[in-house]
Amino acid sequence: MDREKAMAFVDQFTAMASHTTTIALLAIADRTDLLRVMVGKGGMTAVDIATEAELEERYVTEIAAGLAAAGVLGYDPNFERFSLSDEIAAVVADDTSPYAMVGWLDTLPATMSRLREIADATRHGGGVPFEEFGDDMVRGIDRGSAPSMRILLTRRWLPAMPDVVERLSAGDSIADVGCGSGAAAIAMATAYPASTIWGFDVHEGSIEQAKAKVSSHSNVHFEARSGDDIPTDIGFGLITTFDVIHDLFDPLGTVRRIREALAEGGAYLMVEPRMSARLEENLHARGALLYGISTLHCLTQSLAIGGAGLGAAWGPEKAEALCREAGFSSFEELPIDNPFSAFYRVGG
Ligand SMILES: C[S@@+](CC[C@H](N)C(=O)[O-])C[C@H]1O[C@@H](n2cnc3c(N)ncnc32)[C@H](O)[C@@H]1O
Repeated sequence: MDREKAMAFVDQFTAMASHTTTIALLAIADRTDLLRVMVGKGGMTAVDIATEAELEERYVTEIAAGLAAAGVLGYDPNFERFSLSDEIAAVVADDTSPYAMVGWLDTLPATMSRLREIADATRHGGGVPFEEFGDDMVRGIDRGSAPSMRILLTRRWLPAMPDVVERLSAGDSIADVGCGSGAAAIAMATAYPASTIWGFDVHEGSIEQAKAKVSSHSNVHFEARSGDDIPTDIGFGLITTFDVIHDLFDPLGTVRRIREALAEGGAYLMVEPRMSARLEENLHARGALLYGISTLHCLTQSLAIGGAGLGAAWGPEKAEALCREAGFSSFEELPIDNPFSAFYRVGG
């Protein structure tokens, strides 16, 4: 054994473990407003932060110290003041920012809370159903996608299909399948007031949250329905799935149903994680994160109900094969630059 290599991995492991505890501290800060009270304030002592956020000073001292050691907060030892830069605040303390990563502060703890059950499933099969990850998971999914849906969906992503935008602007029907708490459907309803949008999701809790965000007169409707049971008599000009197909019990059945539910000449926009199906092309930090979240959530919640368990890294080749098996004749990746998601226009 090479002692130096072992020691190098001890260093690497220490970094990995400290990233994990930093995420935990950030999750606590997120739940207590500890960082949000620091936004735009310059230096603050732990007492200032505790007073402003109405928290216990002893905890704040320890959490702020941990976040300073991790490089999230600045620290001035002369005045014992902590500071939060605008750039870091945009990532961890502002849900409305285009750089927000705050959704992970709900979803990562939610997945880690089910490690024992996922280990059991690794031994004996099965998995952890979606509902068992609890409200934090639903909230985290919504917080994770809301900034992109509000800022990018109708300004960058859909404009990659100009003919579709023209139809939606004139007034058409849209379905968002696996809509979660409704961020994408609401963004499309706002951008295309002449169109009518339906959001479908099998999870009733998510649909209740989506309904609570809109008035009864709005041009968006939410319904608890499985993707393989969406209505085929409306004739949607556009159907979207954002980060849904790889999670499904029956991906083929849902994509077939999507094809049946589209109007003549309608478009299906499938958005899936930007991952290769070849492991050797995913050997980087984003790959580690996606295989991790796939194991801890995507895969296990599908296998829990006897589903296909595609996992987040199923890749574009299998996505295209699935669409063709479902009867679609065209499949093209849209030229949208995004590190996390790949965008496929499917039709025919
Ligand atoms: C990763 S979340 C994505 C949610 C949303 N599209 C977004 O981007 O925020 C996957 C969603 O698929 C939903 N889902 C899973 N199985 C489904 C099915 N058979 N029919 C419809 N939705 C389903 C889940 O309830 C969950 O809301």
